[in-house]
Amino acid sequence: MSLTKDYWENRYQNQETGWDVGRITTPLKEYFDQLENKSLKILIPGAGNSYEFDYLLHQGFHNVFVLDFAETPLQNIQERWPQLPKEHFIHDDFFEHNERYDLIIEQTFFCALDPNLRKDYVKKMLDLLNLNGKIAGLFFQFPLTLEGPPFGGSKEIYEELFQNDFTCKTLAPARNSIKPRDGKELFFIFIKK
Ligand SMILES: C[S@@+](CC[C@H](N)C(=O)[O-])C[C@H]1O[C@@H](n2cnc3c(N)ncnc32)[C@H](O)[C@@H]1O
Repeated sequence: MSLTKDYWENRYQNQETGWDVGRITTPLKEYFDQLENKSLKILIPGAGNSYEFDYLLHQGFHNVFVLDFAETPLQNIQERWPQLPKEHFIHDDFFEHNERYDLIIEQTFFCALDPNLRKDYVKKMLDLLNLNGKIAGLFFQFPLTLEGPPFGGSKEIYEELFQNDFTCKTLAPARNSIKPRDGKELFFIFIKK
């Protein structure tokens, strides 16, 4: 299966979006609630309908950007925020994007990528982050098989992937997952070295 832009766009158009929970998830909400610096430049890649974008804006974070190569979810977000400048909605391939951020949020984007792209994901995250910038969010913990998306992983797999370029601040089973993901998620914060 080829996980192209058209593949994802079709899934939105056909409403085959089982990952879309329709609201911000508890782990991300609780993480955002303890951030104090509202000026952080934040990227949400593979954003989909990104309810976390709305949450962050409502909490006063104003430097927040969503990126996706599927057009439909970006349009949905834009319709909710017509007053925002267009640059907050980045219609691009993650691997082609060039900018710098303080914080990048991960939720069901990494697991949506072909596992062959995992090293490129880490490298791209390094390029996109300012020094001491962070990636934070959730990775799935269930066995990695050929079947997906979503593609699984484990604490050991993620540690090995990120350890050369990032300091691991947290990588532990999430204690506040939404019910259907209970026991299946690791919450993490990695800091660019
Ligand atoms: C499983 S969905 C998750 C969406 C969102 N993070 C959520 O939690 O609802 C994966 C998203 O990643 C996007 N995506 C996949 N590969 C991408 C790439 N290379 N560049 C940009 N977006 C990509 C898809 O279009 C899709 O919106």
